[in-house]
Amino acid sequence: MSEATDVTEGERTAYAKDVLVDAKGVKVHFPIKRGVIFDKVIGHVYAVDGVDLQIRTGETYGLVGESGSGKSTLGRAILNLEPPTEGTVEFDGVDIASLSGETLRKKRQDIQMVFQDPMGSLDPRQSVESLLLEGMKAHGLAKDEAHASKRLRELLSAVGLPSAALKKYPHEFSGGQRQRIGIARALSVNPKLIVADEPVSALDVSVQAQVINLLEDLQEEFGLTYLVVAHDLAVVRHISDRIGVMYLGAIAEEAEADDLYAQPLHPYTRALMSAVPVPDPLVEDRRERIILTGDLPSPANPPKGCRFHTRCPWKQETKCDTERPVLRVPEIPGVGTGHRVACHWTEQIESGEIQPHEVKAQLVEQHGAGGDESLLGPASISEAL
Ligand SMILES: Nc1ncnc2c1ncn2[C@@H]1O[C@H](COP(=O)(O)OP(=O)(O)OP(=O)(O)O)[C@@H](O)[C@H]1O
Ligand code: SF4
Ligand SMILES: [Mg+2]
Repeated sequence: MSEATDVTEGERTAYAKDVLVDAKGVKVHFPIKRGVIFDKVIGHVYAVDGVDLQIRTGETYGLVGESGSGKSTLGRAILNLEPPTEGTVEFDGVDIASLSGETLRKKRQDIQMVFQDPMGSLDPRQSVESLLLEGMKAHGLAKDEAHASKRLRELLSAVGLPSAALKKYPHEFSGGQRQRIGIARALSVNPKLIVADEPVSALDVSVQAQVINLLEDLQEEFGLTYLVVAHDLAVVRHISDRIGVMYLGAIAEEAEADDLYAQPLHPYTRALMSAVPVPDPLVEDRRERIILTGDLPSPANPPKGCRFHTRCPWKQETKCDTERPVLRVPEIPGVGTGHRVACHWTEQIESGEIQPHEVKAQLVEQHGAGGDESLLGPASISEAL
């Protein structure tokens, strides 16, 4: 189905009005410097390398990908904590990079972040009361004591903590409770968007489920929009309306969560999904598994053409190692306009015209810190939920 036939002008306008975050052609390149006296730039880490992404008001967009694929950097670029090397990020129709002073401060209030490690992001010397008041004061939301005190109690109640927590310090709480404090802190300034970077990765599975349910409840109650970054396919599936799969600084595939799981189209997503256990033992025994060989190439030296060609079981002699595929809606019956794939051969792979072949492991430079942590299978969290 082509985009032109499926989307009317009216629908496009309605969609544009709905868009809260509009990232266009975003690149974040970190310079690699060497030198004893003078810092000389000897290359770049192409952490984010050309991402178009829209997040609609009220939705949860899940970003998934291997360690080092650029998820956190993209999240930070959306918050403008990492100014893009190229491209723009509009929030509520305004390019954040163009703002300064009071207008930037006001806009920042609308976008808050929840981190993976609440212990690392909460100052251990501050009580919960002081941690929560900090942001409220900075944004003029703690006008008088009575009002502030009422608000603090409301915030704690919203995240399921007793008001006695106010006088305590971060180390007096469990990991899950600390994450609740982190969420309350983000909520304290009435944001529109919360960027949650691996919000449950550090927690036990049963606690993960509680925190995810809490995030969902709060979204409904406060009309929040979320960008959730996660390794765990089950976490993103459960929480997301739409999912973007990142590979080496770019989005390989994007779709509604259910569509992505029902019909993964990009070879990388197919490989990820093939590692997901299926509850039915008969189906589990028979289903095909795609094992990816080789490590994620270094983002300082990404492969030419399609970034995935060094590991792709469907790689072809033409195009794959010379032309970079764009993220596009494939011409496949039944695939809607919200499903986009960055692969030259999506249609032929789906029809079976192109079959997978064995991939010879290619020597690739290892990327630095972070290692080669692979994506987690999803069995755990969905069972807990
Ligand atoms: N400030 C920085 N300076 C130089 N390189 C950086 C910087 N921040 C991130 N990188 C590099 O950019 C690449 C993408 O990193 P990023 O943290 O965005 O990945 P990620 O997908 O969030 O990984 P993880 O799942 O491990 O958190 C990595 O190779 C990382 O080493
Ligand atoms: S463009 Fe080629 S190498 Fe890239 S995912 Fe598609 S088939 Fe594989
Ligand atoms: Mg990260």
